[in-house]
Amino acid sequence: MSHLIDEFKANNKAVGFVPTMGALHNGHLSLVEKGLSENDVVVVSIFVNPTQFDNKEDLIKYPRTLDADVKLLKTVSTDKVIVYAPSVEDIYNDDVQSQSFKFDGLENEMEGAFRDGHFDGVGTIVKRLFEIVIPNRAYFGEKDFQQLQIIKKLVELYHIPVKVIGCPIHRAKDGLAMSSRNTRLSEEHRNAAPFIYKILKTAKTKFGTKSAKKVKEWVEKQFNKQPLLELEYFIIADTKTLKPVKRKSTKKTYRAFIAVYAGDIRLIDNIALN
Ligand code: PAF
Repeated sequence: MSHLIDEFKANNKAVGFVPTMGALHNGHLSLVEKGLSENDVVVVSIFVNPTQFDNKEDLIKYPRTLDADVKLLKTVSTDKVIVYAPSVEDIYNDDVQSQSFKFDGLENEMEGAFRDGHFDGVGTIVKRLFEIVIPNRAYFGEKDFQQLQIIKKLVELYHIPVKVIGCPIHRAKDGLAMSSRNTRLSEEHRNAAPFIYKILKTAKTKFGTKSAKKVKEWVEKQFNKQPLLELEYFIIADTKTLKPVKRKSTKKTYRAFIAVYAGDIRLIDNIALN
Protein backbone atom coordinates (compact mmCIF):
# COMPACT_ATOMS: atom_id res chain seq x y z
CA MET A 1 0.00 0.00 0.00
CA SER A 2 2.82 2.41 0.87
CA HIS A 3 4.54 1.82 -2.51
CA LEU A 4 1.29 2.44 -4.33
CA ILE A 5 0.63 5.61 -2.33
CA ASP A 6 4.19 6.86 -3.06
CA GLU A 7 3.49 6.36 -6.75
CA PHE A 8 0.18 8.27 -6.58
CA LYS A 9 1.82 11.13 -4.71
CA ALA A 10 4.73 11.27 -7.21
CA ASN A 11 2.15 11.58 -10.00
CA ASN A 12 0.17 14.26 -8.16
CA LYS A 13 -2.88 12.07 -7.90
CA ALA A 14 -5.48 13.04 -5.30
CA VAL A 15 -6.22 10.12 -2.97
CA GLY A 16 -9.67 9.72 -1.42
CA PHE A 17 -10.13 7.31 1.46
CA VAL A 18 -13.11 5.36 2.77
CA PRO A 19 -12.22 3.39 5.92
CA THR A 20 -14.62 0.51 6.56
CA MET A 21 -14.95 -2.71 8.49
CA GLY A 22 -16.35 -4.47 5.41
CA ALA A 23 -19.76 -6.10 4.90
CA LEU A 24 -20.24 -3.25 2.49
CA HIS A 25 -23.66 -1.87 1.61
CA ASN A 26 -25.04 1.00 -0.47
CA GLY A 27 -24.15 3.48 2.27
CA HIS A 28 -20.46 2.61 1.84
CA LEU A 29 -20.80 2.72 -1.95
CA SER A 30 -22.20 6.25 -1.77
CA LEU A 31 -19.05 7.28 0.16
CA VAL A 32 -16.87 5.65 -2.49
CA GLU A 33 -18.80 7.40 -5.28
CA LYS A 34 -18.44 10.76 -3.55
CA GLY A 35 -14.72 10.02 -3.14
CA LEU A 36 -14.37 9.21 -6.83
CA SER A 37 -16.09 12.45 -7.81
CA GLU A 38 -13.50 14.45 -5.84
CA ASN A 39 -10.26 12.44 -6.22
CA ASP A 40 -8.28 10.50 -8.83
CA VAL A 41 -8.38 7.27 -6.87
CA VAL A 42 -10.18 6.01 -3.76
CA VAL A 43 -8.66 3.61 -1.25
CA VAL A 44 -11.23 1.52 0.64
CA SER A 45 -9.82 -0.15 3.73
CA ILE A 46 -11.55 -3.27 4.97
CA PHE A 47 -10.44 -4.09 8.48
CA VAL A 48 -12.49 -5.33 11.43
CA ASN A 49 -10.62 -3.41 14.09
CA PRO A 50 -10.45 -5.51 17.28
CA THR A 51 -9.56 -2.63 19.62
CA GLN A 52 -12.83 -0.74 19.09
CA PHE A 53 -15.08 -3.61 20.21
CA ASP A 54 -16.06 -3.52 23.86
CA ASN A 55 -18.04 -6.72 23.34
CA LYS A 56 -16.05 -9.84 22.36
CA GLU A 57 -19.10 -11.62 20.99
CA ASP A 58 -19.83 -8.68 18.66
CA LEU A 59 -16.24 -8.82 17.34
CA ILE A 60 -16.44 -12.57 16.71
CA LYS A 61 -19.82 -12.34 15.00
CA TYR A 62 -19.07 -9.19 12.98
CA PRO A 63 -19.76 -10.13 9.32
CA ARG A 64 -16.61 -10.74 7.22
CA THR A 65 -17.43 -10.85 3.51
CA LEU A 66 -14.26 -9.77 1.69
CA ASP A 67 -14.97 -11.49 -1.65
CA ALA A 68 -18.49 -10.06 -1.87
CA ASP A 69 -17.16 -6.63 -0.81
CA VAL A 70 -14.56 -6.61 -3.61
CA LYS A 71 -17.21 -7.68 -6.12
CA LEU A 72 -19.49 -4.86 -5.00
CA LEU A 73 -16.71 -2.27 -5.25
CA LYS A 74 -16.01 -3.43 -8.81
CA THR A 75 -19.55 -2.36 -9.73
CA VAL A 76 -18.49 1.21 -8.88
CA SER A 77 -15.09 1.19 -10.60
CA THR A 78 -12.71 -1.48 -11.87
CA ASP A 79 -9.60 0.70 -11.98
CA LYS A 80 -9.94 3.66 -9.59
CA VAL A 81 -10.82 1.86 -6.37
CA ILE A 82 -8.04 0.20 -4.37
CA VAL A 83 -8.97 -2.24 -1.64
CA TYR A 84 -6.65 -2.35 1.35
CA ALA A 85 -7.45 -5.31 3.60
CA PRO A 86 -4.63 -5.66 6.12
CA SER A 87 -4.38 -8.37 8.75
CA VAL A 88 -4.46 -7.65 12.49
CA GLU A 89 -0.67 -8.29 12.56
CA ASP A 90 -0.08 -5.79 9.71
CA ILE A 91 -1.69 -3.07 11.78
CA TYR A 92 -0.80 -3.98 15.35
CA ASN A 93 2.17 -6.41 15.10
CA ASP A 94 1.69 -8.47 18.25
CA ASP A 95 0.52 -5.56 20.39
CA VAL A 96 -3.25 -5.38 19.88
CA GLN A 97 -3.87 -2.33 22.04
CA SER A 98 -5.29 1.15 21.71
CA GLN A 99 -3.60 4.42 22.29
CA SER A 100 -5.42 6.55 24.86
CA PHE A 101 -7.02 9.75 23.53
CA LYS A 102 -8.69 12.88 24.83
CA PHE A 103 -10.95 14.51 22.25
CA ASP A 104 -12.02 17.57 24.27
CA GLY A 105 -14.67 15.51 26.06
CA LEU A 106 -16.41 14.33 22.87
CA GLU A 107 -15.25 10.82 23.74
CA ASN A 108 -17.16 10.76 27.03
CA GLU A 109 -20.69 11.19 25.66
CA MET A 110 -23.15 8.62 24.29
CA GLU A 111 -21.21 5.83 22.52
CA GLY A 112 -18.20 6.72 24.67
CA ALA A 113 -20.24 6.31 27.85
CA PHE A 114 -21.88 3.05 26.74
CA ARG A 115 -18.96 1.38 24.91
CA ASP A 116 -15.87 1.33 27.08
CA GLY A 117 -12.66 2.15 25.16
CA HIS A 118 -14.51 2.34 21.83
CA PHE A 119 -13.17 5.73 20.72
CA ASP A 120 -9.62 4.90 21.81
CA GLY A 121 -9.86 1.97 19.40
CA VAL A 122 -11.37 4.10 16.62
CA GLY A 123 -8.77 6.87 17.15
CA THR A 124 -5.94 4.33 17.09
CA ILE A 125 -6.99 2.62 13.86
CA VAL A 126 -8.01 5.75 11.96
CA LYS A 127 -4.75 7.54 12.89
CA ARG A 128 -2.77 4.45 11.78
CA LEU A 129 -4.71 4.16 8.51
CA PHE A 130 -4.22 7.88 7.80
CA GLU A 131 -0.45 7.36 8.27
CA ILE A 132 -0.47 4.49 5.77
CA VAL A 133 -2.88 5.84 3.13
CA ILE A 134 -1.97 9.57 3.49
CA PRO A 135 -5.27 10.57 1.89
CA ASN A 136 -6.15 14.04 0.67
CA ARG A 137 -9.79 13.49 1.66
CA ALA A 138 -11.47 10.93 3.89
CA TYR A 139 -15.20 10.12 3.90
CA PHE A 140 -17.30 9.06 6.88
CA GLY A 141 -21.03 8.47 7.20
CA GLU A 142 -23.12 10.61 9.53
CA LYS A 143 -24.76 7.51 10.98
CA ASP A 144 -21.73 7.46 13.27
CA PHE A 145 -22.01 11.20 13.84
CA GLN A 146 -20.06 11.13 17.11
CA GLN A 147 -17.27 9.17 15.40
CA LEU A 148 -17.21 11.78 12.61
CA GLN A 149 -16.83 14.64 15.10
CA ILE A 150 -14.10 12.72 16.94
CA ILE A 151 -12.16 12.08 13.74
CA LYS A 152 -12.36 15.78 12.85
CA LYS A 153 -10.92 16.46 16.33
CA LEU A 154 -8.22 13.78 15.86
CA VAL A 155 -7.07 15.44 12.63
CA GLU A 156 -7.01 18.84 14.32
CA LEU A 157 -5.12 17.63 17.42
CA TYR A 158 -2.47 15.70 15.47
CA HIS A 159 -2.22 18.16 12.55
CA ILE A 160 -3.00 15.44 10.03
CA PRO A 161 -3.29 17.02 6.56
CA VAL A 162 -6.53 15.34 5.47
CA LYS A 163 -9.94 16.85 4.83
CA VAL A 164 -12.56 14.87 6.75
CA ILE A 165 -15.89 14.86 4.94
CA GLY A 166 -19.18 13.79 6.53
CA CYS A 167 -21.80 12.22 4.25
CA PRO A 168 -25.57 11.86 4.83
CA ILE A 169 -27.03 8.71 6.32
CA HIS A 170 -28.10 6.15 3.74
CA ARG A 171 -31.41 4.49 4.57
CA ALA A 172 -33.33 1.46 3.39
CA LYS A 173 -36.71 2.25 1.77
CA ASP A 174 -38.43 1.69 5.12
CA GLY A 175 -36.13 4.22 6.83
CA LEU A 176 -33.72 1.90 8.66
CA ALA A 177 -30.22 3.41 8.61
CA MET A 178 -27.89 1.17 6.62
CA SER A 179 -25.42 -0.72 8.76
CA SER A 180 -23.29 -3.82 8.32
CA ARG A 181 -24.97 -5.16 11.45
CA ASN A 182 -28.42 -5.13 9.77
CA THR A 183 -27.53 -8.41 8.03
CA ARG A 184 -27.44 -10.08 11.45
CA LEU A 185 -31.01 -9.08 12.39
CA SER A 186 -33.63 -11.82 12.57
CA GLU A 187 -36.60 -11.33 10.26
CA GLU A 188 -38.86 -10.13 13.08
CA HIS A 189 -36.25 -7.70 14.41
CA ARG A 190 -35.55 -6.42 10.89
CA ASN A 191 -39.27 -5.76 10.49
CA ALA A 192 -39.41 -3.95 13.82
CA ALA A 193 -36.26 -1.84 13.32
CA PRO A 194 -37.72 0.93 11.04
CA PHE A 195 -39.59 2.06 14.18
CA ILE A 196 -36.30 3.72 15.26
CA TYR A 197 -36.26 6.25 12.43
CA LYS A 198 -40.03 6.74 12.65
CA ILE A 199 -39.60 7.78 16.28
CA LEU A 200 -36.64 10.03 15.45
CA LYS A 201 -38.72 11.87 12.84
CA THR A 202 -41.60 12.43 15.26
CA ALA A 203 -39.15 13.47 17.99
CA LYS A 204 -37.83 16.11 15.59
CA THR A 205 -41.32 17.51 15.07
CA LYS A 206 -42.00 17.50 18.81
CA PHE A 207 -38.71 19.27 19.54
CA GLY A 208 -40.09 22.28 17.62
CA THR A 209 -42.54 23.00 20.47
CA LYS A 210 -41.47 20.89 23.45
CA SER A 211 -38.46 20.75 25.76
CA ALA A 212 -35.73 18.13 25.28
CA LYS A 213 -36.84 16.52 28.57
CA LYS A 214 -40.45 16.14 27.38
CA VAL A 215 -39.34 14.72 24.01
CA LYS A 216 -37.05 12.22 25.75
CA GLU A 217 -39.88 11.10 28.05
CA TRP A 218 -42.17 10.64 25.05
CA VAL A 219 -39.56 8.56 23.19
CA GLU A 220 -38.95 6.35 26.22
CA LYS A 221 -42.68 5.74 26.52
CA GLN A 222 -42.92 4.66 22.87
CA PHE A 223 -40.11 2.13 23.29
CA ASN A 224 -41.70 0.74 26.46
CA LYS A 225 -44.64 -0.27 24.24
CA GLN A 226 -42.31 -1.99 21.72
CA PRO A 227 -41.41 -5.50 22.94
CA LEU A 228 -38.88 -6.26 20.16
CA LEU A 229 -36.73 -3.18 20.64
CA GLU A 230 -34.92 -2.16 23.79
CA LEU A 231 -33.90 1.47 24.07
CA GLU A 232 -30.38 1.96 25.42
CA TYR A 233 -30.33 5.74 25.15
CA PHE A 234 -32.08 8.64 23.49
CA ILE A 235 -30.20 11.89 23.92
CA ILE A 236 -30.71 15.33 22.46
CA ALA A 237 -27.29 16.95 22.29
CA ASP A 238 -25.53 20.06 21.10
CA THR A 239 -24.14 19.26 17.62
CA LYS A 240 -20.72 20.74 18.41
CA THR A 241 -20.01 19.64 22.00
CA LEU A 242 -22.28 16.55 21.94
CA LYS A 243 -23.29 17.45 25.49
CA PRO A 244 -26.96 16.77 26.34
CA VAL A 245 -29.10 19.88 25.99
CA LYS A 246 -30.25 21.43 29.26
CA ARG A 247 -32.07 24.47 27.95
CA LYS A 248 -32.78 25.05 24.25
CA SER A 249 -31.13 28.03 22.59
CA THR A 250 -32.06 29.36 19.15
CA LYS A 251 -28.36 30.09 18.57
CA LYS A 252 -27.33 26.43 18.77
CA THR A 253 -27.94 23.38 16.62
CA TYR A 254 -29.05 20.08 18.09
CA ARG A 255 -29.21 16.45 17.08
CA ALA A 256 -31.06 13.52 18.58
CA PHE A 257 -29.01 10.35 19.06
CA ILE A 258 -30.37 6.90 19.72
CA ALA A 259 -29.04 3.42 20.49
CA VAL A 260 -31.38 0.44 20.50
CA TYR A 261 -31.03 -3.30 20.94
CA ALA A 262 -32.97 -5.39 18.44
CA GLY A 263 -32.46 -8.79 20.06
CA ASP A 264 -28.70 -8.89 20.61
CA ILE A 265 -27.91 -6.54 17.72
CA ARG A 266 -27.15 -2.97 18.71
CA LEU A 267 -28.32 -0.29 16.27
CA ILE A 268 -27.59 3.44 16.33
CA ASP A 269 -29.10 6.34 14.45
CA ASN A 270 -29.41 10.12 14.70
CA ILE A 271 -31.24 13.06 13.20
CA ALA A 272 -30.60 16.80 12.90
CA LEU A 273 -33.27 18.69 14.84
CA ASN A 274 -32.85 22.32 13.76
O1 PAF B 1 -17.14 3.26 11.03
C1 PAF B 1 -16.44 2.24 10.91
O2 PAF B 1 -16.73 1.35 10.11
C2 PAF B 1 -15.20 2.09 11.77
O3 PAF B 1 -15.40 2.65 13.03
C3 PAF B 1 -13.93 2.67 11.12
C4 PAF B 1 -14.02 4.15 10.91
C5 PAF B 1 -13.69 1.97 9.79
C6 PAF B 1 -12.72 2.38 12.01
O4 PAF B 1 -12.53 1.02 12.21
